[in-house]
Amino acid sequence: MNRFVFFGGKGGVGKTTVSCAYALKCARDGLKTLVVSTDPAHSTSDVFDQQFGDDPQAVAGYENLYAMELDPDEEVERHMMDIKRTMSDQVSPAIVNEIDRQIELAHRTPGAHEAALFDRFIDVMREASTPDGDDYDRVVFDTSPTGGTLRLLALPEFLGDWIDRLLEKREHSVDLHEKAAIGNRDPVARLDEDPIIGRLVERKELFEFAGETLRNDASFFLVLNPDELSIRETERAIAELAEYDLGVAGLVVNKIAPDPDESETGTAATYLRQRRDTERERIRRIDAEFDEPVVARIRQRVEEVKGDLLDEVAEELDVAVAPTADP
Ligand SMILES: Nc1ncnc2c1ncn2[C@@H]1O[C@H](COP(=O)(O)OP(=O)(O)OP(=O)(O)O)[C@@H](O)[C@H]1O
Ligand SMILES: [Mg+2]
Repeated sequence: MNRFVFFGGKGGVGKTTVSCAYALKCARDGLKTLVVSTDPAHSTSDVFDQQFGDDPQAVAGYENLYAMELDPDEEVERHMMDIKRTMSDQVSPAIVNEIDRQIELAHRTPGAHEAALFDRFIDVMREASTPDGDDYDRVVFDTSPTGGTLRLLALPEFLGDWIDRLLEKREHSVDLHEKAAIGNRDPVARLDEDPIIGRLVERKELFEFAGETLRNDASFFLVLNPDELSIRETERAIAELAEYDLGVAGLVVNKIAPDPDESETGTAATYLRQRRDTERERIRRIDAEFDEPVVARIRQRVEEVKGDLLDEVAEELDVAVAPTADP
């Protein structure tokens, strides 16, 4: 298995549950494992009955297991402040307010949460060491990048051309330089030392790293439930990832209804039998229509999956643990 493992899927299908179970499986096998959660509602904190924050923390009661929880709102805020700070050093005070307003608007667009989180994912992938400074053998993310975020992987190419053109123009004309280096009041400043260009180059390298890491050192799994909506969402996610040359290693079918005993004949048993039949049909479709292997079929439990139940679910995951040998 690759070092970075992502579990994506529609809302509520069980991404966090399955991520925690898989992380536990890895930790039980002796790998130093970090699970990264991104939803403030139900998350690793509920699964492990322990509050986690922005920095990785050891999970009490388990060895080799660490967790962190990213709050999308906080990430957007942090991202925005960071950009404002960079910009305000570069532009005249007269337009700072207008620029701030534009930046705030940009961060209120639907993709902003995802983009800010993805930035943090890249940070985590680059850092990837325990509070004691050891490298994690495995990092498990309870979500996977989708359309909006994946588009960022095309950024290096786009920025690369743009940066090259900016630098080229600089060589030809100081006049062009002044226009390109927004608000830089020193006309002799070298364009390639310009902080804004510097930042673009930094972004370019960051997403280059992300693209390479996701392609060479990451595995993607999709969690789904035996229902139409989640099957369709899975098809969409596979297609989206494929657009960026990212393959899906397997599917986890979660929340499968249990069978009632033969002797049971009441309304509830009848309902459950019908439900089982519908689900079986969906699972047959999943097996037939997807090329990706189904790596787990997890039964719906009566209670939330935590404690001993988490170990049970971990056992049901037929997902490799041993690290892929270095090429
Ligand atoms: N196999 C299962 N049996 C019983 N309950 C389950 C099972 N899998 C998940 N759950 C419960 O379903 C709820 C949603 O699961 P989970 O939080 O893992 O989904 P998610 O995909 O991470 O959701 P979100 O999209 O909101 O982040 C939780 O309360 C969880 O305990
Ligand atoms: Mg979740």
